[in-house]
Amino acid sequence: AKAMTIPRLVALKREGRKIAAMTAYDASFARVMDEAGMDIILVGDSLGNVVQGRKSTVPVMLEDVAYHTRCVARAVSRALLMADLPFLSFQGSADRALADAAVLMRAGAHMVKGEGAGPFAANAAYLAARGVPVCGHIGLTPQFVHSLGGYRVQGRGAHGARLLAEAKELADAGVSLLVLEAVPAALAAEISAAVTVPTIGIGAGPSCDGQILVMHDALGMGAHPPRFVRDFLAGQGGIAAAFAAYIDAVRQGLFPAAEESYGE
Ligand code: KIV
Ligand code: NA
Repeated sequence: AKAMTIPRLVALKREGRKIAAMTAYDASFARVMDEAGMDIILVGDSLGNVVQGRKSTVPVMLEDVAYHTRCVARAVSRALLMADLPFLSFQGSADRALADAAVLMRAGAHMVKGEGAGPFAANAAYLAARGVPVCGHIGLTPQFVHSLGGYRVQGRGAHGARLLAEAKELADAGVSLLVLEAVPAALAAEISAAVTVPTIGIGAGPSCDGQILVMHDALGMGAHPPRFVRDFLAGQGGIAAAFAAYIDAVRQGLFPAAEESYGE
């Protein structure tokens, strides 16, 4: 199959076709995921949680993400491969963000993802102008857990306007994709309609242009899964079938359901 590209993702949004994304951290799972037809594979800094057993993504180092990106890159031939800029990278100086992005792009990433907006939107523009596609990530940004005081839904009530403004600001800065995490479904729908950049939701309702899940969650391995997690391995014959079931559910708009989403 043809390799996934940013223009193709934008075309999918324009045509109202959903984008299926998932995290992977090693070559074996990434190969099965790629062969199942996943559009985007993310080497997330969630590797700190699911691979390293940490309580947050804050301690994850650039070299950790680079190592797993090299592992995944060897197995991916169709999906667009995205890698996370770790804590205080996208949020650091432009040169810091650029140097770290260079490491991930040389490790095989096609795009990097950075958490936050406001003062960091300038870094998205700085990287994008230099040939590094950037995915924004707003709403619940796990690298900010110690500022947020926990993992909770963002953008409820009057805070929704700020998230909408951040989305527009990142889109104007030139991000190619935008992850919306743990926000009310109606707000995610409003943001998705307001920007031409494809939105990828996790805990952001069914109206995003695509969906993403942490692979271990999608395979039913989470100890205390949040409400937006569905076990796609349950009732399937194996890993490949679970990935295919996830991709199918996303493309048909059957995931997430209302009870897997957040209200206002
Ligand atoms: O690290 C990660 O897995 C992520 C996704 C959940 C969006 O950032
Ligand atoms: Na992440």
